[in-house]
Amino acid sequence: MADWYSNFANSGFGTTVTKQLGLPRPGVLRRYEPGGPLLEGPAVVGSAGRGRLRDTVTAVLRDAGATVVSPVVADGDASGEKLGAVVLDATGVTGPADLAAAHDFLAPAIKRLRANGRVVILTDPPAAADSPAQAAARQAVDGLTRSIGKELRDGSTANAIYVPEGAEAGVAGPLTFFLSGRSAYVDGQGVTLQAADVPATQDAEKPLAGKVVVVTGAARGIGASIADVMARDGAHVVAVDIPAAGDSLAAVANRIGGTALQLDITAADAPQRLVEHLRERHGGVDVIVHNAGITRDKLLVNMDAARWNSVMAVNLQAQLDITQALLDGDVLNPGARVVCVSSQSGIAGNRGQTNYAASKAGVIGMVRAWAPAFAERGATINAVAPGFIVTEMTAKMPFGTREVGARLNSLQQGGLPVDVAETIAWLSQPTSAGVNGQTVRVCGQSLLGA
Ligand SMILES: NC(=O)c1ccc[n+]([C@@H]2O[C@H](COP(=O)([O-])OP(=O)(O)OC[C@H]3O[C@@H](n4cnc5c(N)ncnc54)[C@H](O)[C@@H]3O)[C@@H](O)[C@H]2O)c1
Repeated sequence: MADWYSNFANSGFGTTVTKQLGLPRPGVLRRYEPGGPLLEGPAVVGSAGRGRLRDTVTAVLRDAGATVVSPVVADGDASGEKLGAVVLDATGVTGPADLAAAHDFLAPAIKRLRANGRVVILTDPPAAADSPAQAAARQAVDGLTRSIGKELRDGSTANAIYVPEGAEAGVAGPLTFFLSGRSAYVDGQGVTLQAADVPATQDAEKPLAGKVVVVTGAARGIGASIADVMARDGAHVVAVDIPAAGDSLAAVANRIGGTALQLDITAADAPQRLVEHLRERHGGVDVIVHNAGITRDKLLVNMDAARWNSVMAVNLQAQLDITQALLDGDVLNPGARVVCVSSQSGIAGNRGQTNYAASKAGVIGMVRAWAPAFAERGATINAVAPGFIVTEMTAKMPFGTREVGARLNSLQQGGLPVDVAETIAWLSQPTSAGVNGQTVRVCGQSLLGA
């Protein structure tokens, strides 16, 4: 599904027209290609505050094959080489005065950021601060990151990682994700880590090798893309969808060498059937992606019980029941991952979508509540909240609504199903063990619900 405006704005003629008229010029996003470099240019690493992560960050960058160069000095540095990434270690800030160093490092460095560049800022979580001044300085990173995200152009993004003392081992996974093309449509976000048993390394090309991954709603749309990406990353995918979607489900499963399982996830016996399938065929499961979802839109005053109940059943109750059955059936393998698909509507609310938004907000509450129990088993449960994703569903929207919806974000374009899939695949990786109970928006830093 082509984004005609992006294509136009990036054509020779379109570039001239959009420049002259001051129209949005969405950049062509750099998306992950297996075997490709982490960054398209060198990275600089700077610090504000005590900066306990600087060496870790530099090592992660070098291990991933990136070149790390010296920080750019304001008005200096004659080489003029464009930067692929700017990483600021702001851990250990004690008060607002420490943030002057953040400004002094970031301003000249970001001036040299190339298209599709990356800005990542790390600090400690504000909630764990010793004093109001320290909390203020840590929280300031949130406003700083989000504003940089809004100032960047040409596909560049800015994201934050909050790292409590003891969670340092978990930095590599999220840092590499935010730097790479896997996070093309994740912008203006923050992820808070927690202490966990994180493997030091993983297979960069096949991080999910040997894993059994269930994807619900895999017959089409975002679910089919999740299945593709999981298989590309080495997983065996059990693709689940309703019997009516059996043909396209089989096509997806065949394409990726996976298994098709026809199952209405709202059926009373669905959780048990899934548990038995996983136990008998695979001896357990490593990842389940609760992607299946439906909309039945109406204003609340006009909404009948059937619309309310069906949306709740597919989007929320089935996720609860199946997750509980996997726990009770003891089929979750060590280091298991549950990734739930929420929605921007669950954060911002949406006219005509009380049922849908309630169900998707419920998913956010569910992962937050379940996270401690998952951590105890060395597992994680997280959600992703897609914003405007270009699918068959959005293609049917009226032209004006669709065009406005697609542009209301810092990247000035809709995301692709693969952007949601890459984020889910990242949360499923072994080195994402420190990310738990979080909801990661895949929305290009949408203005809605920000
Ligand atoms: N497309 C977007 O812009 C967008 C934005 C935010 C969130 N989402 C969410 O992403 C997920 C995927 O969305 P999509 O756009 O690919 O939707 P889609 O309608 O194209 O695909 C959903 C799939 O789920 C399956 N499904 C529905 N009910 C089921 C059931 N009871 N049992 C088993 N499978 C069932 C459908 O058959 C279908 O194959 C959904 O949870 C949706 O709410 C989508």
